[in-house]
Amino acid sequence: MSFFAIRSATGLLAAALLAGVATSALAGEKAEVIHWWTSGSEAAAVKVIANAYIKAGGEWIDNAIAGGGGDNARSVGINRIVGGNPPTAMQIVPGKQLDEFVANGYVRDISALAAAGNWKAAIPALLWDSITRDGKVYGVPIDLHGQTWSWWSIPALKKAGVDVPKTWDEFFPTLDKLKAAGIIPIAVSRDGWTIDSMWRFLMISKGGTDLFRKVYIDHDVNAMKSAAFRDVVETLFKMRAYSDPGASARNWNDSTALVINNTAGVQFMGDWAKGEFLNAHKQPMVDFACTPAIGPNQGYVFGGDMFIVTATKDPAMLKSQDLLVNTMMSKDIQVAFNLVKGSIPVRGDVDVSKVDPCGQIGLKLMANPANQVGDRDFYNSPDAIGAIQDLLATSWSKPDTSVDTFVAKFAEALSRQ
Ligand code: BGC
Repeated sequence: MSFFAIRSATGLLAAALLAGVATSALAGEKAEVIHWWTSGSEAAAVKVIANAYIKAGGEWIDNAIAGGGGDNARSVGINRIVGGNPPTAMQIVPGKQLDEFVANGYVRDISALAAAGNWKAAIPALLWDSITRDGKVYGVPIDLHGQTWSWWSIPALKKAGVDVPKTWDEFFPTLDKLKAAGIIPIAVSRDGWTIDSMWRFLMISKGGTDLFRKVYIDHDVNAMKSAAFRDVVETLFKMRAYSDPGASARNWNDSTALVINNTAGVQFMGDWAKGEFLNAHKQPMVDFACTPAIGPNQGYVFGGDMFIVTATKDPAMLKSQDLLVNTMMSKDIQVAFNLVKGSIPVRGDVDVSKVDPCGQIGLKLMANPANQVGDRDFYNSPDAIGAIQDLLATSWSKPDTSVDTFVAKFAEALSRQ
């Protein structure tokens, strides 16, 4: 803080004390928010919320914990709560992650705020279910991310003399052409959850909606032994040959950067990657192509992010949380935040005309409930998902993993519910 700023603040405080009133900023709502949004576009998106909070008279304490996918941030948040020093709010993903918070009484019931904001009518039913337990609302859903997209560099494709593959038959020949043109065909990253993004792209786009649902919702072991499932595994294994040794050192957004600068051909990732393209001033369908499927769309795997506000009786904290929740769910912030984040608003009652062409594909698919495929987080415990991510990371780096071993271990991991 500059000397001037300190003097100004002191002056304000003195004036407020003299007048015997507290200004709203000084009485102030104050939000410490734990999240894992540390890439360029993610940080810019957080700023949209932070600035709105500050504009409404609050103070924002940003607690960004690095680590895409959020495992680190969640651990820090839980430790803070258990240690008796809870943040105002923390990020999780919608679905079963909430169970632990509700069961332990870590999270505040915000049903009254949800009712006042008319959330139930405004958001998809599955999302509503995912933020409620026993009829009470416990989560603030901030965005809807398409979890299984592919992002292609148009200059890289041009250099290789190919287009985005339209069928699975064209898929590997396209990757071969990219390789022959000196381009890294697939930008892969090191963390298990990023291999899982690639895996679920194959599950929905090659395996299909039914297989996806049978596996992740019904935990149907026969579906995991089916030819269609084995084909998805084999396809993933075959894709190993199209990565590069640098992958083991890369975060998800480093891989996106390789596609942005045309060093790599494609990345399989949720549409937070699109936030990075937009942040780098790249134009959809001009600089980069996006598709949630090779061939016809099979359904739209959606997930997203939500915040929980921590359980408290402290009136100042409650007030700070109220302002935070209302800010996040306000129509203006829903629009402004999601444009930067690469996601689509959770509210169906807002103006989405400014959403980019890739987002419009997502909106169109989401408009038909038959296409809405809730991601695995809605139906599976964090433990099961963690075990699958470990399996995917290990199998990806160990070419001697057999399909049979993979199938058996996958079924075992999904049984940990
Ligand atoms: C979150 C996204 C985030 C991504 C990478 C996902 O789990 O849902 O909001 O951008 O992780 O950090």
